[in-house]
Amino acid sequence: MREFLAIPLPESLRRAAFASRGVLAPRGDGWRFVREAGLHLTLRFLGEVDASRREALDGVWREAVAGTARLALRLRGAGVFPATGRPRILWLGIDDETAEGSLARLAGRLERAARAQGFAPDDRPFAAHVTLARARGEARVARPPVERIGDFGAFVAERVVLYRTELGPGGSTYHEEASYPLIVAAVS
Ligand code: 2AM
Repeated sequence: MREFLAIPLPESLRRAAFASRGVLAPRGDGWRFVREAGLHLTLRFLGEVDASRREALDGVWREAVAGTARLALRLRGAGVFPATGRPRILWLGIDDETAEGSLARLAGRLERAARAQGFAPDDRPFAAHVTLARARGEARVARPPVERIGDFGAFVAERVVLYRTELGPGGSTYHEEASYPLIVAAVS
């Protein structure tokens, strides 16, 4: 099955994020929007994972997440990938408001854990974002008015979720397979 590790957005922010399509692409404008329930911050895309590895990997992800405390994050602003040329991805920004840059460190831990398990390395530098929409097929989409998007608000990430992607004609649906708490164990 096709899997990835991500931080879910709280419901109120998902609602506000989804509603921003009214400003960014009021008539759809060639974009296929992620379902409101599926809005997330990807930490590590895994791709196809054999079901027989599930139990062993469960412990790997749990251990990689443990030791990182809850994360103070903020959903703010919007942009497109690639930054120049034809836009393909419309995203909302994530600010890491932790003192230590803990979000990128967590992504780095998961990257190392994934490599150690034989997953192909992801060499792109981690760029925290929430994908809101993808350009449909080869559609030549206009650049959305991203400068009109402000601050959606702060939130505290309390867990990392392992999602399974179900591909469908109306877009992907994401199912929660496992949840790993962001918590630093007390030293006894
Ligand atoms: P994106 O938001 O940057 O597009 C589930 O598909 C999630 O995994 C998406 O949010 C997507 O990130 C991310 N992802 C990263 N690499 C991917 C790939 N090669 N194929 C599909 N999804 C990928």
